[in-house]
Amino acid sequence: MQFFNSFDKYGLLAKLFHWITFIVLLAQVPFGFYLVGLEFSDQRIELENIHIFIGITVFYLTLFRLIWKFFNPSPTEKKSFFKGQVLIGKANHFLLYVTIFSITISGILKKLYMGETLNFIFFKYGFEKDNFILADAYYEVHIYANYLLLALVTLHILAVIVHHFVFKDKILNKIT
Ligand code: HEM
Ligand code: HEM
Repeated sequence: MQFFNSFDKYGLLAKLFHWITFIVLLAQVPFGFYLVGLEFSDQRIELENIHIFIGITVFYLTLFRLIWKFFNPSPTEKKSFFKGQVLIGKANHFLLYVTIFSITISGILKKLYMGETLNFIFFKYGFEKDNFILADAYYEVHIYANYLLLALVTLHILAVIVHHFVFKDKILNKIT
């Protein structure tokens, strides 16, 4: 299996980035919604810390993924079935990256503005002062960006289904 992306196929590392992120998000989104409904307790704090650790990992994963994409561009071979198709695909991918960053960075800023020190895996960091108004605002961003992510992923998967069954262009082979 090729390590680097080629003209018509993603390489091993890009595939790993894609599918690991998918599996982690599949768990992390429902986990976040579940967390909100829990009563305050030691167990809740522990679960929240796990949510934060996974979230910060997704942040790094997406950062490394984009750095990798910069040095090793995605496959370019794209047959168009209608005008603007390539642009729609690119916009979907671009917004997926923006949304994942919005979710992770808003989560981080919410906790920092609450006055908490966060473990960024390689280092620990906290603000000197808290600001609950900003913490609330970033929490709103965290929630709405999650809804946007669900909408974009739904479109993404619908597009794959249409490609597979209507256009019959075996798009899934590029990334599996
Ligand atoms: C959390 C869920 C998912 C996210 C966030 C996501 C994100 C992305 C992103 C950002 C790209 C563009 C990669 C690049 O070139 O930079 C991509 C490509 C792709 N994804 Fe997903 N994906 C998800 C789930 C899925 C699923 C479930 C499928 C299959 C049913 C899928 C199939 C594909 C395919 C076929 C491509 C290549 C499209 C092309 O190059 O034209 N993805 N995905
Ligand atoms: C891809 C990464 C992440 C996803 C998909 C995600 C998803 C979610 C979701 C769906 C909620 C529930 C929102 C609601 O309905 O109220 C939530 C809550 C929360 N998230 Fe995240 N999150 C991620 C990363 C992070 C990060 C990096 C942090 C902090 C560093 C964080 C901190 C929180 C906190 C503090 C809550 C609220 C728990 C509470 O106090 O009720 N999240 N998250």
